[in-house]
Amino acid sequence: MPHEKVILAFESSCDDTGVAVIRGNQVLSNVVSNQTIHEKYGGVVPELASRAHAQNIVPALEAVLEESGLNDKDIDAVAYTLGPGLMGSLHVGTAFAKSWAWSHGIPSIPVNHMQAHILAHFLAPGPYPEFPFLCLTVSGGHTQLVKVNAPLDMVVLGETKDDAAGEAFDKVAKLMGLPYPGGPVLDRMAAEGNPAAFKFSKPKVEGLDMSFSGLKTQIWQFLQKETQRDVAFVESNMHDIAASVQQTILDILMEKLEMAVSETAITRVAIAGGVSANRGLRSRLDAKSNECGWEVFIPPMAYCTDNAAMIAMAGSLLDAHGFRGELSDEPMPRWKF
Ligand code: KG4
Ligand code: ZN
Repeated sequence: MPHEKVILAFESSCDDTGVAVIRGNQVLSNVVSNQTIHEKYGGVVPELASRAHAQNIVPALEAVLEESGLNDKDIDAVAYTLGPGLMGSLHVGTAFAKSWAWSHGIPSIPVNHMQAHILAHFLAPGPYPEFPFLCLTVSGGHTQLVKVNAPLDMVVLGETKDDAAGEAFDKVAKLMGLPYPGGPVLDRMAAEGNPAAFKFSKPKVEGLDMSFSGLKTQIWQFLQKETQRDVAFVESNMHDIAASVQQTILDILMEKLEMAVSETAITRVAIAGGVSANRGLRSRLDAKSNECGWEVFIPPMAYCTDNAAMIAMAGSLLDAHGFRGELSDEPMPRWKF
């Protein structure tokens, strides 16, 4: 049996501090320290996020070492998120990870956060998609349709022109007076509502690109009009509004995904990123699998939202391809692949 490398990883691109350790593709420990400070501001405050990362990163590392039962000397390499993300947040993880690797005399491996969301599919226990496959990557900052030819060969076929799908969930939830992050809250409410109660139009965008900012404006105008008639409109129709909004967002995503499948003739379809935790999206994909024979790959919940196990997996694959980082590597807030 070849030596399966032990990779320690740090994720600090946005508002969750993640530390994980994997051996091969087995997760030994995966700790995510959620920052609740942003809730009262209705969104992530970058300066507060950086400070919280600096406070959380050492306790999260200690927890990971304790849970995995490993010592510093067991670690073969350190992977970390170099981008994309918030500059200040990335700086904390980058500086910490590189320093840890340097002081222990082991390699540091910079990872692209969006690629890592996709590579989370290769964490045990699988099932692992065969290549090539399509991946709909839907998070709070990005929405992309990606053709994955090989672990490190990915081509973006289409992406959002403006807001990300997760951002659309969060912004509409905010308009409805719901707490941040609104995606999971809308998801729960939508499960008890009627998706056909209200109709919202879908934007017309060429090819495999998408757009979500018009939807937010449309819903804002709709809520304004209805609350003028009845001040309690949102409160009394909460579940139906949530279900109708979610339906429209999912219609946009599914339409483009179906287009990508028919254009590429690839029926192996994966989802990744925070919005892939959405139960509505998961059941729409399951339906496609039953009705159209798509081979569908949906990650476990813990690997959908931001976590460091996926960074470790990407780092492990990069390492296996001989890739090494430099101590001079600087955070890349807008890193495209
Ligand atoms: O990937 P992620 O954890 O962080 C980024 O890289 O952005 O994604 C966070 C996004 C947020 O917009 C959050 O509201 C959304 O994912 N999200 C959801 C659900 N869980 C998280 N959106 C819809 N339904 C969910 N269940
Ligand atoms: Zn993410």
